[in-house]
This record gives sequence, structure tokens and C-alpha cells, in this order.
Amino acid sequence: MSGIELDGPRVHLRPVAEGDLGELSRLLREPGSAPWWTDASEAGLSTALIEAPDTTSWTVLIEGQIAGAVSAFDAGWPPGAYVGLAIALGDAWQNRGLGPEVLSLVIAHVAGERGVHRFSIDPAAANLRAIRAYEKLGFRPVGVTRQSEVAPDGTWRDCMLMDLLVGEFVNQAVVD
Ligand SMILES: CC(C)(COP(=O)(O)OP(=O)(O)OC[C@H]1O[C@@H](n2cnc3c(N)ncnc32)[C@H](O)[C@@H]1OP(=O)(O)O)[C@@H](O)C(=O)NCCC(=O)NCCS
Repeated sequence: MSGIELDGPRVHLRPVAEGDLGELSRLLREPGSAPWWTDASEAGLSTALIEAPDTTSWTVLIEGQIAGAVSAFDAGWPPGAYVGLAIALGDAWQNRGLGPEVLSLVIAHVAGERGVHRFSIDPAAANLRAIRAYEKLGFRPVGVTRQSEVAPDGTWRDCMLMDLLVGEFVNQAVVD
């Protein structure tokens, strides 16, 4: 997946740079994100966003400020049969429909570039806000994957695997 810059009505995405990690680490340790991101240290973010193989990550900018990060990574078999997604925004940017807008840009870009037919995302099963936000894009719950994610406190927790077929995609990055 190419990490080109992407623009929506309210958000701008640019490939994650090393220099973004400090601010992203601060944002992802705010109360609204901290429970849902396993390792928000700069080293952890470098591993997840920059060094992870077959992963493309973008820094999200809103109103000229770093607001969060989003990743798309090859998943399935053969590798890249479908694409997984991950996202986190800082507290100031949550609950405003911006997460679905960001994900819409990435889904439209990857589907257009690669002809990918399926996307997946797996929030913690207790992350009801994320599940609701992803449903707005057309994601459907597949089921609970047991003890499939390490929580920030080091314990295992369940996730809600969700998937989206491109024909069901409801693009949330369109101007009214
Ligand atoms: C998850 C996230 C990307 C969603 O993006 P967002 O822009 O905040 O989401 P939206 O504002 O579009 O939608 C949130 C929805 O959840 C609902 N919601 C909020 N809190 C909720 C709760 N506790 N229980 C159920 N629904 C809730 C809102 O009412 C809204 O639904 P509506 O539009 O039908 O009213 C963003 O909140 C975020 O980055 N959170 C912190 C990190 C995180 O959880 N990342 C996900 C890891 S998989």
C-alpha cells in the first residue's frame, strides 16, 4: 500500500514520520485512548506504526494539528488477501465523526489502489464506541475473539472482530 497523502472534508493524512511519535504518544495516553491502545510509548508506536511489516500508517492532522494515527496492514492468506485497520484519535477529536471519516479515506484509497474486497478491524469487545463507529462504515460484527489482545495493563482481553466487504462500504468522508 502506498503511503500517499489523503484529504477529506475535515482531515488530512500524511505518512507517519519519526518526528510525529512524541505528539502521538502524548495523545494516545489521554484518558479516551489510553485503555484501548496497548503500548503508546514512542518505542511502541514506532514498532506499530513505522517498523511493522506490510503496514502503512498515516498521521492524522485536523485543523493543522496532529490528532491521531491510522494504519492499514496486510492480513489473511495469501498475505494481503484482505486488509486490517487500526486507528486512534486524541481526546479532543473523538465523538465528532472524525474516526469514520479517517477510515473512509484509507478504505477508499486501499480498495481503489489494490482492488481489496474485504477489510477487518478488531476493537476490544468492551470498546462500544469504536464498535458503533465502525458499524457506521458498514462493518459487521463477526464474533468475539477470546484473549486476542494484550491490554495496557499486560492482561489478555477479548476483541470484537468486525469485517466489511467493499460493496457494503458507507463512505463517511463525503461532503454533505
Ligand atoms: C474509536 C474512534 C476511532 C471512533 O471515532 P469517533 O470519531 O470518535 O467516532 P464517531 O464520533 O463517529 O462515533 C462514535 C459513536 O459511538 C457512540 N458512543 C460513544 N460512546 C459510546 C459508548 N460508551 N457506548 C456506545 N456507543 C458510544 C456515539 O454516540 C457515536 O454513535 P452515533 O454517531 O450513532 O451517535 C475514536 O473514538 C478513538 O480514536 N477512540 C480512542 C482510541 C480507540 O478506541 N481506538 C480504537 C481501537 S480499535
